[in-house]
Amino acid sequence: MSPQAEIIHGLTQVAPSLSPKYFYDARGSALFEQITVLPEYYPTRVERGIMAGHGPDIARSVGTGSTVIELGAGNCDKARALCELLAPKRFVAVDISEAFLHEAVASMRPSFPDIAIQALVADLSADIVLPANLPLAQRLVFYPGSSIGNFDPRQALALLSRMRGLLGDDGALLIGVDLVKDASILHAAYNDAAGITAAFNLNALAHVNRLIGSDFDVAQWQHVAFFNPVASRIEMHLQASTDTLVRWPGGGRSFVRGERIHTENSYKYLAEDFLDLLRRAGLPNTQVWTDELAWFAVVLARP
Ligand code: AVI
Repeated sequence: MSPQAEIIHGLTQVAPSLSPKYFYDARGSALFEQITVLPEYYPTRVERGIMAGHGPDIARSVGTGSTVIELGAGNCDKARALCELLAPKRFVAVDISEAFLHEAVASMRPSFPDIAIQALVADLSADIVLPANLPLAQRLVFYPGSSIGNFDPRQALALLSRMRGLLGDDGALLIGVDLVKDASILHAAYNDAAGITAAFNLNALAHVNRLIGSDFDVAQWQHVAFFNPVASRIEMHLQASTDTLVRWPGGGRSFVRGERIHTENSYKYLAEDFLDLLRRAGLPNTQVWTDELAWFAVVLARP
């Protein structure tokens, strides 16, 4: 399905939805960067603390001289820290946001003259085709930030299995995962006082307007985020604050006041459930590092 057809399909369902990948145009990527430094948004900070605190231990387990492949590399901030730690031979930054990725890779190169750095634009919900000349030996797939939480467990298992497929038998996956914690902490992280997460969520409508030629009036929509304890996930929605009709070439749909478009899930795992998912994806040999409060885990998983 083309992005346009996929978006319209989601919007015209009885329970309308929009894939979170449409958050990430240039403005959305910049807003996400702002989210990662918000006081309420702990995942980036806590994960960085784990990587810094356990860096030597992680480096010993991974080894040097590898080929690091980061999925969803964004601004390559985490890659910089990892490249300093592991001194890999090669680094491949994979991301869906093309302009942002090329800029990030270009700014990284001067600091790491000894590492061959490549950019690869790819959508992680489809197949990831790595450059043909990339050696199979000693690959490390790096998937930080708990982005795995943005896939439902069935999709997460499929994605982890595809990551396993990128590795040889001596490869490994280094992955960050957000853990279940007090709902008030989770709620605050997705409802920040400065309204950056709200702007990030609402920006998806402006992006969709450009992609499908729709006429969403962003001012008529509100950000809604809450923890769903049964599904163990934060849900983000956009809620119509008035009855409204949205049109696009060849179609449209009306929304009544209070109706929601589901834009994102962010699953929070129990560590043992996540290790079980890794085992089912063919990555049963794991090492886990967490922060003192066990809010977040960094896991090294091998075939
Ligand atoms: C990218 N991903 C891990 C973020 C998360 O926490 O699920 C996306 C995000 N959505 C709202 N704030 C951050």
